[in-house]
Amino acid sequence: MSQHTTLRRLTAPDITARKGGDPIVSLTSYHAHTAAIADKYVDFLLVGDSVGMVMYGFESTLPVPLELMIMHGRAVVRGARRALVVVDMPFGTYEESPTQAFHNAAQVMKETQCGAIKLEGGKRMGETIRFLTERGIPVMAHIGLTPQAINALGGFKTQGRSQDQWASIEEDARVVTEAGAFAVVLEALAEPLAAKITRDISIPTIGIGASPACDGQILVMEDMLGLSPRIPKFVKEFGKVGEAIENAIRRYADEVRSRQFPAPEHTYEMKSLLLLLFSVANGRNRLV
Ligand code: KIV
Repeated sequence: MSQHTTLRRLTAPDITARKGGDPIVSLTSYHAHTAAIADKYVDFLLVGDSVGMVMYGFESTLPVPLELMIMHGRAVVRGARRALVVVDMPFGTYEESPTQAFHNAAQVMKETQCGAIKLEGGKRMGETIRFLTERGIPVMAHIGLTPQAINALGGFKTQGRSQDQWASIEEDARVVTEAGAFAVVLEALAEPLAAKITRDISIPTIGIGASPACDGQILVMEDMLGLSPRIPKFVKEFGKVGEAIENAIRRYADEVRSRQFPAPEHTYEMKSLLLLLFSVANGRNRLV
């Protein structure tokens, strides 16, 4: 079934309960309108901090402020009625201490009414994930390629391609699971490692560039729509929205220049009596 019909909004425990079952479907979303369209087809929507790169043209996700995530989070919660909405915690708003993370995550949840937050990091975030989940904040973890750490990782690089990296990433997965995360994003991981982690842990793995072995998949919506100028190898373009936008804008510009647009059907007329009076007042004795 590709389209959902029930209306109850999904929760973090609903997603956890899907472990090992039908694949979990998710996309990023930053606006009410695309959230409303995607809502019928996905299980959760992520208001990713990729919004900074996709919509604001930043080189990385590092400059994204908390306020921006809250504004976009509110829009997506308003647009989606059924999907769980997860909001990303941006760089610098949760790493310092569990209390810093709680303070900011609580603000995100209060102001957006989202159902969960996501944060990046494995072992190093274990204590924070436990602190948040014990206080009622569902946490989605994110390991493998963690874009907020690109300066430390040396760029957007696939992780786990050599087996000496495996132990550390497997430990990340185990720690976030034991700390209480309800699901974990695996980004840019070699397939055998993603498959092993998916087998070994009790929470769903959500892959982005981490193979079909994961319990679910997520993509950046603009990438899969064909709206992004450059896309990674793991993205499939399911649409050509960029081309459709350009064609529409080109036609609009042509029609404005050739005075074909606005046509009579796009133009407001006056009521006929008023038009008559207006014509008379302007020295014209018949309707034009
Ligand atoms: O910010 C984002 O879009 C993400 C996805 C890539 C998982 O974290």
